[in-house]
Amino acid sequence: MGKIILAKSAGFCFGVERAVKTVTDQIEKCSPDEKIYTYGPIIHNDTVVSDFEKRGAHVISEEEMASVSPGTVVIRSHGVTKKTVEDLEACGHHIVDATCPFVKKIHRLVAEYSEKGYKILIIGNENHPEVQGIIGWIVPGTEYVVIGNEKEADELHFSKGEKVCLVSQTTFNHNKFQELVEIINKKGYDMFAMSTICNATEVRQTEAAEIAAQVDVMLVIGDKNSSNSRKLFEICSNKCDNTFFIQTADDLDLSVIQSIHNIGITAGASTPQKIIEEVQKKCQQRILNKC
Ligand code: F3S
Repeated sequence: MGKIILAKSAGFCFGVERAVKTVTDQIEKCSPDEKIYTYGPIIHNDTVVSDFEKRGAHVISEEEMASVSPGTVVIRSHGVTKKTVEDLEACGHHIVDATCPFVKKIHRLVAEYSEKGYKILIIGNENHPEVQGIIGWIVPGTEYVVIGNEKEADELHFSKGEKVCLVSQTTFNHNKFQELVEIINKKGYDMFAMSTICNATEVRQTEAAEIAAQVDVMLVIGDKNSSNSRKLFEICSNKCDNTFFIQTADDLDLSVIQSIHNIGITAGASTPQKIIEEVQKKCQQRILNKC
């Protein structure tokens, strides 16, 4: 009979757990007339976000910050720009910062090194809110570049000997990061480089690859908007042809699971434990029913 291997690292990481708890704590301690907001969805998970909405924590966007009544605004784990913090305060909001400490560390690094005259090089996806937040802590006027692939690394135009501070988006793929650093190292910059890839991501990615390599069917659970979940899917697909990306147990097509199949399950950093358990249970029932 087939078995199910559930990744130990599946689900909420430390930073997301902390951000979700921060919102829960704020809801519990505020009086009925106090307003609570999260600046953008607190995590990439529709179920969690709508649950918070029902309990009184509303998502606000940049455009809405000035038009809503002043209240407590929780900053999500991805972090925000320095200007956003200042704008929120100028609108009369009280800020509760749930930026993940690992992201905060990158904010400090880019602020410190741009202050010292370094150019900033970020390995990551420029459109991701975390990277946008990081960019927002660079001292204005400092030259910075965001790169995400070998071509962009090859084309880097900083002059030889230039002081460059290199950091990475916390969820960037570890191996890809090493490859890009190798290319950049040959360019002769005076470099301060720090892999700021979060250990949680690396552990989750390594474990997912190991499990995917030994199973017949691999399930990656995550929200469609979650970049770390999509990266997990990419990694697992390279090891297992039958890798499926699902958001909840409802998306699971049971016809892909046979009784003899070994099934691997992992989940992105913003997937609640409850959804992981539901998927696991559905797989277990399928295996048992097929026997
Ligand atoms: Fe923080 Fe790492 Fe999670 S940076 S938000 S603990 S993936």
